[in-house]
Amino acid sequence: MSNPKGRLELTWMGKDQALIPVDHGKYDYEWVSTQDPRAREVRTVDVNGSYGEGPDDNLLITGDSGDALRALVSVPEWADRYRGKVKLVYIDPPFNTSQVGFEHYADSLEHSIWLTLMRDRLVYFKDLLADDGSVWVHLDDAEVHRMRCLLDEIFGAANFVATVVWQKVYAPENRTDVSASQDYILLYAKDRPTWAKSRNLMPRDEKQTAQYKNPDNDPRGPWKAADATAKADVGRRASQFYTLRTPAGNEYQPPSGRCWLYTEDRFEEMVADNRVWFGKDGGSRPAIKKFLTEVKQGVTPSTWWPYTEVGHNQEGKKEIRSLFPSIVPFSTPKPERLLERILHIGSNPGDIVMDCFAGSGTTLAVAHKMGRRWVGVELQSDTVATFIEPRLKAIIDGTETGGVTASTGWAGGGGFGTAVMAPSMYEVDEDGTVYLSEDAVNGAFSRSVCGQLGFRFEEGDPIFCGRKGRTRLAVIDGMADEHVVRVVVSSLAAQEKAMVVAKGLQEGVAELLRELSPGSRIRKAPEDLFMKRTVK
Ligand SMILES: C[S@@+](CC[C@H](N)C(=O)[O-])C[C@H]1O[C@@H](n2cnc3c(N)ncnc32)[C@H](O)[C@@H]1O
Repeated sequence: MSNPKGRLELTWMGKDQALIPVDHGKYDYEWVSTQDPRAREVRTVDVNGSYGEGPDDNLLITGDSGDALRALVSVPEWADRYRGKVKLVYIDPPFNTSQVGFEHYADSLEHSIWLTLMRDRLVYFKDLLADDGSVWVHLDDAEVHRMRCLLDEIFGAANFVATVVWQKVYAPENRTDVSASQDYILLYAKDRPTWAKSRNLMPRDEKQTAQYKNPDNDPRGPWKAADATAKADVGRRASQFYTLRTPAGNEYQPPSGRCWLYTEDRFEEMVADNRVWFGKDGGSRPAIKKFLTEVKQGVTPSTWWPYTEVGHNQEGKKEIRSLFPSIVPFSTPKPERLLERILHIGSNPGDIVMDCFAGSGTTLAVAHKMGRRWVGVELQSDTVATFIEPRLKAIIDGTETGGVTASTGWAGGGGFGTAVMAPSMYEVDEDGTVYLSEDAVNGAFSRSVCGQLGFRFEEGDPIFCGRKGRTRLAVIDGMADEHVVRVVVSSLAAQEKAMVVAKGLQEGVAELLRELSPGSRIRKAPEDLFMKRTVK
């Protein structure tokens, strides 16, 4: 389908709308206009606990990922910490497979809902990612093709890096027509050329290293014989075609369609430096010696990830079972080795890794063991309490011995902060009129207004609760009258302006404020907080 701009684009019912979660901690969503305050509301991230040391490094949020991401990009304190700073996002969202029987979450969201949810979150990822960052989206056949279109639209087709094929099962399913062996992990870069320079190589495995030998005891160490010819295409010089004489006197021409890799002069220099191999007898066709010490220190990652290298679904389940032997294991945990590879390629120790569909917490667990900082979001508080928190605590305590603990050399340490998404401050009735909810009182309301209007929260001042440059924010939990305005203005320092937000405005206060402090403004909550755009 093509849109009016003529660009190829996936469209769906409700693409121009927003979705809001309607029931806390479940999978119910409601379509609303993108102007609806509940879709634009920046909810507060309420930090409510911590575990271990250095809890500010890592953050575990219970709540909807859309709410959490909007807060992380909008609330100045969080935006400072995360915007443009996240090195890697991995998500393993519900696959939308319509499979029934998953114990811990519903996996049959309708396509339009699924696409809208994903689109909204991908847009935030783009904002959060560092210039050399990458996003890895784990899916199966149900939605992978639609997600490719979506990712192209948001990240740009030029930033598509690869589709990783993960061999997820070791035993085929014989009760179906064709048994699916793989999942897909779509890899997009924030900016592909920048990412390409910073991504890590895979360590050379023993088999690959064993290809380097040293039959002539070269002091430069083991080497591998590489082709001494190149394709004779355009750009090759006439001086790359000549008859080559070996030390034993044999003569060779490049095979047809090929030329020598080097000109004759350069070739002689290579021979003098003992970088050409003519076989033990000195009379074979030449090969170039590629020394292990001189090649890239690793191999380029490729897209085929067999379970022998990164584990399979059952391995993930087994890891969860051994952590929690007495409970029904989480439905779809990924093996730690899979995440180890992803985090190895796309991040370095100290980098921030994010997973906002955290599930049993595999990404966070592996990130922790690999010395990355992390942010996790999970909707279901049960899942957080049953799996994620105890898993991370055991890792921090050094009592967890499974997964990649041994291969990463993990011995315990670190910590994390926990947070929940604060409830909504707004209600919208059937006519689209916005009301403040019963939660919109006192400190909670002030904090929420700070986040909504982009003010930095300030504690301890009797009048003001936020600051943005030279503007101070005063949130009045009631009516703003003449007295309130006079107190606010008299509390301003020289050069400062006020933004007053009140639940009610006495007639004439806006004019009074402007008169007493030109440039200061007053807004009525809730309607003026959303820039007076009407709710459809
Ligand atoms: C496939 S599981 C992730 C499994 C995880 N990779 C692991 O290894 O355990 C998807 C998770 O996303 C959560 N989820 C679904 N919708 C969400 C939302 N809107 N916000 C946050 N989490 C959500 C589900 O509750 C579920 O735990």
